[in-house]
Amino acid sequence: MTATKGLEGIVATTSSISSIIDGVLTYRGYDIDDLAENATFEEVAYLLWYGKLPNRSELAQLVKDLNQYAAVPSQVIDQIRTYPKDTNSMAALRTAVSSLALYDEEANDMSPESNLRKAIKLQAQIPTIIAAFARIREGKEPIAPKQSDSVAENFLYMLIGKDPDKVAIEALDKALVLHADHELNASTFAARVTVATLSDIYSGVTSAIGALKGPLHGGANEAVMAMLEDIGTFEKAEAYVNEKLANKEKIMGFGHRVYKNGDPRAKHLQKMSEQLGKITGNMNWYNMSIKIEEIVTGQKGLKPNVDFYSASVYTSLEIPRDLFTPIFAVSRTSGWTAHILEQFENNRLIRPRAEYTGLSNQKYVPIDNR
Ligand code: ACO
Repeated sequence: MTATKGLEGIVATTSSISSIIDGVLTYRGYDIDDLAENATFEEVAYLLWYGKLPNRSELAQLVKDLNQYAAVPSQVIDQIRTYPKDTNSMAALRTAVSSLALYDEEANDMSPESNLRKAIKLQAQIPTIIAAFARIREGKEPIAPKQSDSVAENFLYMLIGKDPDKVAIEALDKALVLHADHELNASTFAARVTVATLSDIYSGVTSAIGALKGPLHGGANEAVMAMLEDIGTFEKAEAYVNEKLANKEKIMGFGHRVYKNGDPRAKHLQKMSEQLGKITGNMNWYNMSIKIEEIVTGQKGLKPNVDFYSASVYTSLEIPRDLFTPIFAVSRTSGWTAHILEQFENNRLIRPRAEYTGLSNQKYVPIDNR
């Protein structure tokens, strides 16, 4: 038995949800470029769960369900009030999502209808949890969700406490479309491994949030912004990045396990970053990002991934830096839950092997003789 480090190149399951073939990302056969230009996040979530784009009445029903489930049990909100004020936002989300199961009577109902309903509930409640956490830690009262056609609109409304402007809603909606699913990425794999034991959907999504938190995965968008803030001004970007590369440090937001010729999502986020920079009158983050891309791609041949321009996009929307990865989770909940449903449809325990590299032929030595 020979191990493949990081499972690189290993095909661990079949899936009909999303594909990455020759650098093209599709959801259910639709090119991400097509969806990014035309679809709303709710249409995409429907597509991932049901395998087809919704017609008007199907979409209206999904929006109705999302609105119906968006409120979070008061016990979970009360629990968030007890979190230390400096709690990591992804740790807070992971804990709160795990707690949702305690207040859902159908948490352990494994029927397909119940699991689909819980997927929609999770999609509806995760934005509410994040917005509540963000307000509570600032000493503000959480804002109840309103009736809305859009997850993006409702999230921004609950976060800022007033109706968000159209540009912000459209930008966040597009970001949600772009992050919704991505084949067998680390967090989706974590979700599938968990539910393949026939554990419940809340456990699967809690595992996925834990995996997304890391800076090599979803946590990279926050790390990118930390880097941009650290650099501060356009003039300092070149020396900063050159020094990091000379020290063999990674530049967050670059490189990808699967895409070697560029992440197809990055160009959409780059365009949004530029547009939002113009609208807000602050091109600093965008200009700096372009400069960094020029250097990293020029020297290392590495292209930006989905996280690189997300950082300046969310900053232009005045979203606090440590909510970037939770927002990624809002979007990816659609993909995680679609994969969980697919795993249940044709389940087999996921249990690989390890190549043993430890000692052998050891004999027990009584404790006093060691
Ligand atoms: N900056 C500098 N060098 C890099 C970077 C980077 N961002 N990414 C890869 N490299 C280099 C590595 O140092 C390594 O060089 P070496 O062979 O000289 O040691 C080589 O490229 C291969 O890198 P690995 O880390 O082995 O590649 P892997 O496929 O395991 O990693 C990953 C992919 C984790 C995304 C990596 O590119 C990385 O750490 N990027 C920065 C973090 C990031 O942006 N993560 C978000 C990914 S997208 C997402 O999850 C949503």
